[in-house]
Amino acid sequence: MTARSTFSPDLFDGKVVLVTGGGTGLGQAIALKLAALGAKVAITGRRVEPLQETVAAIEAAGGRAMWRSADVRDPSAIEALFDAVEAELGPIDGLVNNAAGNFLACAEDLSDNAFDAVVKTVMYGSFYGTRAAGRRWIAAGRKGVVLSIVVPYATSGSAFVLPSAMAKAGVLAMTRSLAVEWGLYGIRLNALSPGPFPTKGATDRLMIPGVAEAALQRVPLGRFGDPEELAELAAFLLCDASGYLTGQDIVLDGGEAIKGAGTFSAYTDMPRDQVKAMMAMMRPPKKA
Ligand code: HXC
Repeated sequence: MTARSTFSPDLFDGKVVLVTGGGTGLGQAIALKLAALGAKVAITGRRVEPLQETVAAIEAAGGRAMWRSADVRDPSAIEALFDAVEAELGPIDGLVNNAAGNFLACAEDLSDNAFDAVVKTVMYGSFYGTRAAGRRWIAAGRKGVVLSIVVPYATSGSAFVLPSAMAKAGVLAMTRSLAVEWGLYGIRLNALSPGPFPTKGATDRLMIPGVAEAALQRVPLGRFGDPEELAELAAFLLCDASGYLTGQDIVLDGGEAIKGAGTFSAYTDMPRDQVKAMMAMMRPPKKA
């Protein structure tokens, strides 16, 4: 269980939040954080062991949690999951679309199945969960909040992760579309785009060995993200204090995306004295 927080430990008292992919990585960090802040947390994923371990950790710290194994690509499994969570914990107040799939591949080599594996997990899975939540909130006249974990390249695109880039862009489009369509029901949807947070799932699939140092150099703040930092922001986006925020995508990447876009960003990688000396040399002589 996480120890420190900006927030009061009763922030989520009485709230039920479902986190997909909540047994590992960033989803687990979010689940632990919400439980530490008083939420009743439901987590789902395909593998049972990490789900059981995460629920056990929450319960050992005095929190309330449950798990159900489900594949987010299966709409009937998602409906059954929502029914089970409502029966055990009560009506759901928040949904975190975190479950994802990704791997490095050249687009021309992708099989139909490989494309489907990622797009169905990320885009269809986020849709099935969001639709299930929205249907229930609208029918019951309850407010609700959806947080989708996207990625900065949902906006820019990225080489070698085409299915993920396409699917995450779709989730972002869902976030913005439904923020408008469901606003009158009091349903909010936002996206959170983490930059480099080296979790095992992402590192094993995406980080070519030996490139970690180069990856660090892309980040103006000079370090990778701490899942705790992401979980804190997720908590804010899910709680009532962000009640006027909807349809937005918050990028949490230590400045990586904007550094990549800036024409002169590479100068920040040189010793500053050297940069200043070069600038001084390029400067025209003072006019008399
Ligand atoms: C090419 C691959 C492949 C690879 C799988 N496939 N891995 N093709 N390169 N590295 C192909 C398989 O050959 C198969 O196609 C098809 O994909 C389905 O593979 P399965 O293993 O049967 O599928 P499944 O068990 O459903 O696995 C889904 C998965 C896997 C997406 C492929 O990686 C997974 O379970 N991932 C979940 C966790 C995860 O990816 N976490 C990282 C998320 S990071 P054929 O044609 O052979 O049948 C993220 C953002 C990162 O999302 C942001 C960084 C800034």
